[in-house]
Order: sequence, then C-alpha cells, then structure tokens
Amino acid sequence: MEHSNKFIEYYGAHEISPVKQDLSDLELHYAKREKLYRQLGIPCITFDQKKILEIGPGSGYNTLAFFAWGGVCTLVEPNKAGIAEMKKLFADYEIPTEKYTIKECTIEQADIAETFDLVIAEGFLHSIDNGEEILTQLLGYVKSGGVIVITCMDVMSMFVEQMKRLICQILIKDITDYDLQVEKCVEFFAGQMEKVKGMSRSVEDWVKDDMLNPAFNCKEALSMEKALKIFPDNFSFLGSSQRIFTDYSWYKDLEYKERKNMIQQYQKKRHNFLMTGLNETILSEEDSIDLEKGIRAIRNYAIEYEEGYEDQSLDKIIKKLGEIRHIMSTIDQACEAFVIEVREILEKLRDKKQVTFEKYSTFYTAVGRTQQYLSMVKKK
Ligand SMILES: C[S@@+](CC[C@H](N)C(=O)[O-])C[C@H]1O[C@@H](n2cnc3c(N)ncnc32)[C@H](O)[C@@H]1O
Repeated sequence: MEHSNKFIEYYGAHEISPVKQDLSDLELHYAKREKLYRQLGIPCITFDQKKILEIGPGSGYNTLAFFAWGGVCTLVEPNKAGIAEMKKLFADYEIPTEKYTIKECTIEQADIAETFDLVIAEGFLHSIDNGEEILTQLLGYVKSGGVIVITCMDVMSMFVEQMKRLICQILIKDITDYDLQVEKCVEFFAGQMEKVKGMSRSVEDWVKDDMLNPAFNCKEALSMEKALKIFPDNFSFLGSSQRIFTDYSWYKDLEYKERKNMIQQYQKKRHNFLMTGLNETILSEEDSIDLEKGIRAIRNYAIEYEEGYEDQSLDKIIKKLGEIRHIMSTIDQACEAFVIEVREILEKLRDKKQVTFEKYSTFYTAVGRTQQYLSMVKKK
C-alpha cells in the first residue's frame, strides 16, 4: 500500500535536511555516538570491518562515527538536500569512496538483496505512517547473529515537545511564510535552549524538524511497546537508550519471558520519558493507562488546533491538563508545575494577553526524553 511520507514531502518542499550536528569538536561528537551505542549494548569495536545498512542517514553527520569505527556503509536516503550535504560532508572528511554506497531512494524502493551485520534506522521510523511495515522489511536485511537499531516515540515522551509546539503554533498562526515562521520560532526558543546540556543541533534545525515538521503529528507513533511486539521471537533484546528495562533473570533460565516482562515494565515506567531530569518512578498500570489516555487526548486536540486554529481546541486542552494534574503531581513536582504553567500560558494566549515566557521556569527549561533507541539481536 502506498503511504504518503511527511518527512520526504516536507524536507523536499523546503529543500532542507535539518539534521546537522555540531562537529566543531569531532571527538566530542564521536563520544556521544559511542555512549549511545554502548547504551545499546554495541561497543564501537563491533563496527570494525562490518557491513552496515543505514536507512535515513540524512546529511550523514552521525554516519561519520561508523566510518571512524571501521564500518563499511550502504546508505539509503531519498531526500535530495540530505544526499547533497552527505556527499559534501564525506568528501570534506576524506571518507574513501569504497567505504560507502548511497542508494538515492526510499527503503521501500531500494533494491537490496544482501544481509548486513548492523541495520540502523535512526530518527524517523517512529513518526512515519508505514513505520511498522518498514520495520518488518528491515528485519529481512539483518544477518543471522546481526543487530538492528531503531528509534521509538510515544505520546508521553512527545508531551513536552507537543506542548511547546502548540504554543509555537499559536504564536505563528497568522504567519504564512515558512522562513518567517522559522525565524519567529527560533527567536522564541533561543533562550529556552541555551542551557540544554549536550544539545548538538542548532535551534533552527530543531525548530524545523520538531516544531514545524508535519511528521511530528503522525497518526500513531511507534512506541517501544509496539516495536517490541513486531519483532519475531528470533530477535532478542540487546539494549536501549534510555535504559529503562531491568532483568534479574538467571542466564540459565531460557524459559524467561523477556519480551512480556519488558512490555510490563514499559507500561509502568513510560511516564519517565516525560521529561529529562526525572528520577525513576513506577506507576500502577491503572494510573499509567489513565495518564496515557489523558495525554493522548491532549495530543489529538493539539493536532486539531493546528488544523483549524480554533480556540475551542485550546479550551479542550486546558480542561484535559486540569484532569491529568493530579497524576502528574504523583510523578514529580516538575511534571505538575509543567502542566500548571502550560495551562496558564494557554489561557493567556487564548485571551490575547501578554505572556512573559521566562517567568514560567519549568515550561521554559523542560525538555522531553522524546526519542528512545532500541537494539535487538537476531539469533544465530
Ligand atoms: C529526522 S531525519 C534523521 C536523520 C538521521 N538519521 C539522524 O538521526 O539525525 C529522518 C531521515 O529519514 C529519511 N527517511 C524518511 N523516510 C524514509 C524512507 N521511507 N526510506 C529511507 N529514508 C527515509 C528522511 O529523508 C530523513 O533524512
């Protein structure tokens, strides 16, 4: 079945690939990549002389680390701006051309007959409409004993960004020119992003990719739970970033229901993705379901707002925020404060009152644990 691909349509329409990473300190960039892959249970030595299939490398900034670790890459990227930037980047960093092949198409269109040691799809599967189908397709490219890395998101992990996006959308609702929209959002976020530790993307790229990209409003994000249910039994869990799963099973206990246990943990821990800085808490399944429902409804009303810019949608969000406040307060004071502050900001914006955003200190500094990485290994 043909699906529209909002990433490709949006990037193509504006001729952008908003995924640049700060390479001014290359060792620092590699250290962040090393930490991510270590959290995923994949030390960088694993890449040495290995065949990598990377889908959606964008402008290739993250791919540089795979070369540095000795990998040989097949890259599948359909976005023209990304392809051009990637080719230039690889030339600038003197990557030997025999170390990579670029397939300039979507993964659905790619003609791939081989299997790979590592199959990597970072940063898009979770928010495209056919993410589940592509994931199933990718499983076939993993060698026996090989590894696959994907990214996931869910309504809780997106919540902080969804609320920031909503406020941005209110601020730019009368601006039709894309560049002016970007300018206004960058101005709004510059102060908020200043203190975010480890941020290696420009505020402009982040605004283009998270605040204005229609893919963020995908119908159903690929959550860790959904992804875990897609992997067949010949794939086992290897790692995740963030590392939310614990496993006390005896290594000799081969009957242990790893996947079932992980999904149960996810259902009680997913709210820890709401914000960076939260210490882990466990919710009862009922509270987690209630919170998920409330946040899902808020997300749907936020998407509805973007479609019609009606104050009614804001009223519904304000009401729902009131309803989730109590559960949020049981998680962390910052979660409750975020809800209270967003409510007040929305009321003021709806009533055309002046807002001094800096005064809302939790809203101003909050960042979601938006995207989760998951690695799985195919049994030998
Ligand atoms: C948000 S960017 C992520 C770039 C990079 N992987 C990263 O994590 O920074 C998503 C990338 O996925 C690509 N993409 C989207 N749908 C795709 C598909 N069906 N096949 C291959 N690439 C796709 C987009 O063109 C874009 O370059």
